[in-house]
Amino acid sequence: MAISPTCQPDITIDDHLDVAHERGLAEDVLDGLTRPFKELPPKHFYDERGCELFDRITELPEYYPTRAERAILEADAEAIVAATGAAELVELGSGTAAKTRVLLDAMAAAETLRRFVPFDVAESVVRASAEALVEEYPGLRVHGVIGDFERHLDRIPPPVPGEPRVVALLGGTIGNFPPGSRRRLLREIAALLGPEDRLLLGTDLVKDSGTLEAAYDDAAGVTAEFNRNVLRVLNRELDADFPLEDFEHVAFFDRRNEWIEMRLRARRACTVRIATLALDVELAAGEEIRTEISAKFTRRRVAEDCAAAGLRLDGWHTDAERRFALSLAAPVAV
Ligand code: SAH
Ligand code: TRP
Repeated sequence: MAISPTCQPDITIDDHLDVAHERGLAEDVLDGLTRPFKELPPKHFYDERGCELFDRITELPEYYPTRAERAILEADAEAIVAATGAAELVELGSGTAAKTRVLLDAMAAAETLRRFVPFDVAESVVRASAEALVEEYPGLRVHGVIGDFERHLDRIPPPVPGEPRVVALLGGTIGNFPPGSRRRLLREIAALLGPEDRLLLGTDLVKDSGTLEAAYDDAAGVTAEFNRNVLRVLNRELDADFPLEDFEHVAFFDRRNEWIEMRLRARRACTVRIATLALDVELAAGEEIRTEISAKFTRRRVAEDCAAAGLRLDGWHTDAERRFALSLAAPVAV
């Protein structure tokens, strides 16, 4: 672990991404691209360009989840803070922490706000949000963690006695995990929670497929660019030669599984060389690589996933149009 000195006394940043992370990328890609149905793991979308493209997605007219989640926070943050007495906010996959400010404002107004712990695999956003937030919230301590929340949850700084903690996983990120991994991640998060601590979970809700598909296939083509960005990451990090322009963005709602599936479809047959892996990947014309799922939820599904992970759903907040939900969950005493 590298602890980087910063000039501000209120900021600490721990960086847990090392060579093992790059090895992780290589292994994930080797597994994914040699399967009978090719697949790439989603956490590799978020290099610096990926983070910028995601930020642009959140502002697209078709991409309603960010606005819906923000509306819920604006309406209910005060109640959420009152229900939890939160002094500390740990945010997993915090990104630029744009919506987080609504929660921090409510904690500041309730005079409980002590510490913010942004946790993200993208180094630049953790550093930038830490610096911006200590300026915006006088007296706030920020302890940023650069890491992979599938591997480094145990590196979250220890709780401070008497300072209740809310662990937030917003933006529907939990839906990017298939059902088994989703429950595993929730169980690992549950293990971080003391009896007074809570999980705040943002989930997109099941709705008509037109609205859903438009949110993942916008007219301006930003989501398509974001999807193709994962190939750019492989070209750079693993010395691969994916011809980006030959891959078409595909997004559809799988009604049986109730998730959006994103793929990249080869417009023509090609052989891609991944030099670092000494691997040649053959793609037939029209062959698809699955890059991401984004599960859509019902209240019942959230409650069941929570229960399977040792959590009890005890707060449910939606926007006026019931497009998105924020859930509060408590650890079940064992
Ligand atoms: N919470 C923000 C950003 C959501 S995008 C919002 O609601 O708008 C998902 C974020 O999770 C990105 O910033 C990405 O870098 C981060 N992320 C994805 N997989 C991750 C992982 N395995 N470990 C840590 N962060 C991850
Ligand atoms: N968590 C976001 C979601 O599921 C991530 C996301 C939005 C995304 N648009 C995307 C991931 C496009 C890949 C491609 O809504």
